[in-house]
Amino acid sequence: MRPVNVLEAVQEGRRYPVRVGAGAGAGLAALARAHDRVALLSCARVLATPAGRSAVAALRRAGNLALVHRLPDGERGKTLAELERGAARMLAAGCTRRSLVVGLGGGAVTDAAGFLAATFMRGVGWVAVPTTLLAMVDAALGGKTGVNLPAAKNAVGAFHAPEAVLADPAALRTLPARELRSGFGEVLKYAALRPAMLGAAAAQARSGRAGAGLVAACAAMKLEVVARDPRERGERKLLNLGHTFGHGVEAAGRFSRWTHGEAVAVGLCFAFRLAARLGRIGPLAVAELEAAVAEAGLPTRLPAAAARRAARLMATDKKRTAAGLRWVLPRAGGNAWKVDWDVTAGEDAVADAVREIGGAP
Ligand SMILES: NC(=O)c1ccc[n+]([C@@H]2O[C@H](COP(=O)([O-])OP(=O)(O)OC[C@H]3O[C@@H](n4cnc5c(N)ncnc54)[C@H](O)[C@@H]3O)[C@@H](O)[C@H]2O)c1
Ligand SMILES: [Zn+2]
Repeated sequence: MRPVNVLEAVQEGRRYPVRVGAGAGAGLAALARAHDRVALLSCARVLATPAGRSAVAALRRAGNLALVHRLPDGERGKTLAELERGAARMLAAGCTRRSLVVGLGGGAVTDAAGFLAATFMRGVGWVAVPTTLLAMVDAALGGKTGVNLPAAKNAVGAFHAPEAVLADPAALRTLPARELRSGFGEVLKYAALRPAMLGAAAAQARSGRAGAGLVAACAAMKLEVVARDPRERGERKLLNLGHTFGHGVEAAGRFSRWTHGEAVAVGLCFAFRLAARLGRIGPLAVAELEAAVAEAGLPTRLPAAAARRAARLMATDKKRTAAGLRWVLPRAGGNAWKVDWDVTAGEDAVADAVREIGGAP
């Protein structure tokens, strides 16, 4: 068994370990024992997997598991009604302000569990045990927690850093292929920020296996950026590479036709094409990025009508500022490229990139 990668997250004066690798969950019982009671939040699908069963067994061994609360799957578990239900069940199970919340699942569960921890008794500790690739490299890191309102995703939330994040890529074995591929869309974003990672990221995506080294490298990048810019005033915007157009794509597909990772993958291609239109990078960089996206089995193009709709909808993205959209775009540098944030682009260049991306039948 290869050793677990232990990363240290630093967030606004707080430090917590992020353990990535085989056996990362081993510390769960000890974390539980430091609290009076533990509330496990998960969903039925995850609790039925080997990773789910072993987390429950570890918490039972700790001896203070007061509650196993099943959230409805996915976004349906990220609501204020479910927050109230979860808090009421914690109270009924005897949880106090010294209790621990454990969020075991994908990003929807870790967002909801983290927000419950942020608000129960004005804030209790929590541990994230991410079981999707997206949650391991993104959602469970950085301390953003929250739920959705009917009109907007993540509209209500809080910054609440966990006590630990325990990510064992073995959990990904039961993940549906499309969810895994979607997580690789986010992995490719990190690789586009650090081009030396692109080849390995695309090859692992094609093989359908995310190695602990790659997951840890992505997690480390997010943690470094968040440590320097916790509230997204500057550098943290880099993590939105591919997301401006990507959010438009998600909306154009009514949040069901394309997964988040698929939308980000097309969004990366869009950002590189726009950067090329602006003369920031050459065609080889675009080709390299798109080859990696294609190798990962993710989309590089959209049907023309969907691309136009995505472009209209991205203008309502919350990252818009008064002076128009601000882009995260690559610029030729070193022997590959570097990425800048707060870049402006003329309407013509954007329209050209929309036409290029809309090349799918
Ligand atoms: N807080 C943040 O900084 C942040 C960042 C990115 C995304 N997010 C949030 O993350 C959410 C998306 O997360 P996600 O992509 O993990 O989706 P998800 O949590 O909806 O999980 C996807 C599906 O996979 C299932 N699943 C999870 N783990 C499994 C496993 N090991 N085996 C089998 N099935 C499993 C789930 O039950 C679900 O059906 C969104 O709500 C998004 O807003 C938050
Ligand atoms: Zn994302």
